[in-house]
Amino acid sequence: MKIGIIVHSYTGNTYEVAKKLEEKLKDAGKDVEIQRVKKVGGDEPKGKDIEIENPPEVDKYDALIFGSPVHAFSLSLAMKTYLEQISTLRDKKIALFVTKNLRFEWTGGTRAIGQMKKICQSKGGIIMGTGIVIWNKQRDQKINEIAEKFATLF
Ligand SMILES: Cc1cc2nc3c(=O)[nH]c(=O)nc-3n(C[C@H](O)[C@H](O)[C@H](O)COP(=O)(O)O)c2cc1C
Repeated sequence: MKIGIIVHSYTGNTYEVAKKLEEKLKDAGKDVEIQRVKKVGGDEPKGKDIEIENPPEVDKYDALIFGSPVHAFSLSLAMKTYLEQISTLRDKKIALFVTKNLRFEWTGGTRAIGQMKKICQSKGGIIMGTGIVIWNKQRDQKINEIAEKFATLF
């Protein structure tokens, strides 16, 4: 089983979590790799009509972990645009996570996860688990928790 961790990360936090997840999943014997979603013209969150540079392919993975920062109480536009342009996720097992810095999950975290869930399910994906990392609140503990949970999902 090949697992793809596909993340958008503007300031590096989400990518840092992806690296930790990759390490933990590799330790658990999984075949895993990370791919980054990049916006044409740079990752700064500005502009409405954006394009994704070389969108990572999902076909070669049996399972996927999508990760994104929360921007303005929502899923980042780059991740939203990327997920929306995927043609199918039929029967793929999927886990989702977001990173954020405001203290509570409901200041964008829950909403962003809900948005990701909805798009993935509309393309036939099966959501196996989700996680929210609040950057300045028990971050390492939360990342470990998510890694352990995700390692048992696939
Ligand atoms: C434009 C912008 C908007 C943000 N909006 C929110 C928000 O609504 N809620 C929140 O908790 N964090 C918000 N953040 C903080 C980021 O979600 C947080 O720092 C995240 O870990 C960044 O991930 P990254 O380093 O992978 O880009 C925002 C950050 C930026 C740059």
